[in-house]
Amino acid sequence: MKKSKTLFFCQNCGHQSPKWLGKCPSCGEWNSFVEEEVRETEGARPAELRYDGVPQSIAAIEADEGDRISTGIAEMDRVLGGGIVGGSAILVGGDPGIGKSTLLLQVLEKMAERGLKVLYVSGEESARQIRLRGKRLGASAKDLLILIEVELEAILSRIQEIRPAVAVIDSIQTVYSSVLSSAPGSVGQVREASGRLIFLAKKAGIPIFLIGHVTKDGSIAGPKVLEHMVDTVLYFEGDSGHAYRIIRGIKNRFGPTHEIGVFEMRDTGLAEVSNPSAFFLAERPEGAAGSVVVPSMEGTRPILIEVQSLVSPTSFGMPRRTAIGVDHNRVSLLVAVMDKICGIHLSGSDIFLNVAGGVKVDEPAIDLGIVAAMASSFLDRPIAAGTAVFGEVGLTGEIRGISQTGVRIKEAARMGFTRCIFPRTHSHEALPETRMELIRIGSLRELTEHLF
Ligand code: TYD
Ligand code: MG
Repeated sequence: MKKSKTLFFCQNCGHQSPKWLGKCPSCGEWNSFVEEEVRETEGARPAELRYDGVPQSIAAIEADEGDRISTGIAEMDRVLGGGIVGGSAILVGGDPGIGKSTLLLQVLEKMAERGLKVLYVSGEESARQIRLRGKRLGASAKDLLILIEVELEAILSRIQEIRPAVAVIDSIQTVYSSVLSSAPGSVGQVREASGRLIFLAKKAGIPIFLIGHVTKDGSIAGPKVLEHMVDTVLYFEGDSGHAYRIIRGIKNRFGPTHEIGVFEMRDTGLAEVSNPSAFFLAERPEGAAGSVVVPSMEGTRPILIEVQSLVSPTSFGMPRRTAIGVDHNRVSLLVAVMDKICGIHLSGSDIFLNVAGGVKVDEPAIDLGIVAAMASSFLDRPIAAGTAVFGEVGLTGEIRGISQTGVRIKEAARMGFTRCIFPRTHSHEALPETRMELIRIGSLRELTEHLF
């Protein structure tokens, strides 16, 4: 006998409660509870949901790094930590229309061209729509199979039958299980569908990509829980005003996190950007006050980015502070340090800061760039041509060392920069051989001497 009852689930984090709540006690989200039916099945789990496990010695288990399958797209492989690991579950999140379906279709096409049988399951578009998109992308390999299906049980049995090298589910929110009565896209359904797909991935050794939509506030719709279940979480981001798209690793059980891959959206699909520094600096104004270049680390890769600032006298009482791409609080802190240490008083100025190209930076190395950009705009003096800066700024105005100094300097040199200002106290790391003028500073006071 099956008993049926209803519970309330938070659509953001999956927290369950016997009664409706206005605010989720687990994730703090308001108005996120939805009633869903849960059936309790009695007895053992179905056979397909069991491993027949016997303990074995870790040394006896066969596994090697060579088991990774390349996607055929270098930027994608980088984010995945070198390729797709057999049996892994990869969640790809992003705003609607950002290019998730396009990216995954291109990945599958590249694999199918190498003779691997791959499966694209769509619940969002018809086969003809996918074919039309495929034509634009040049996707026509015969080993690329398209399945239009939304029922979980059917999808699972098809995957087992076809045994593709990789399967893509577009999107996880459209998949529903007939075992549950709640609506497709609800937390219960998404969790059930992902749970069983992930189980199949592990058991059959078939890597599965799950495409997930993202809510307004940036989390993958409904299931925060999903992020814990999968092996790898990738976010596909960018804004509709720009052609570039960044795929960012948020979690990766099989490689470094915070790696990024950069693409450009063209009318023939996504093209890889293999030299992001050049890409992000392409529109940089020459000799303009308020613009500075910072070598920033994105995962293991250095990327030169441009920090822009506009400082102007406040016309109303409260000065405005706007920061795009960098932490707002960090900017306030740096303004206070500049005031105290450098004698640059910005308290009566509106400050606008922007990282060009819409990139977001959250590492401390950007501090010196923010200070330099603000100082340059405030004094209305352009920073000397060919100068790159990086370093963390402490509360007493000291410049603190940061990691990967050598890699950053090398990247700046490669892009034709001739001077680099960076922390004096860097670790035992050896500096690269370069013809660049290397200027080390220990305090914010020294910065202005070298900047202009
Ligand atoms: P899509 O992959 O459908 O986004 P998602 O699956 O994340 O919702 O991408 C749709 C957008 O990409 C759409 O705005 C048009 C654009 N696009 C191109 O510019 N060029 C192309 O070749 C393709 C296929 C899409
Ligand atoms: Mg799509």
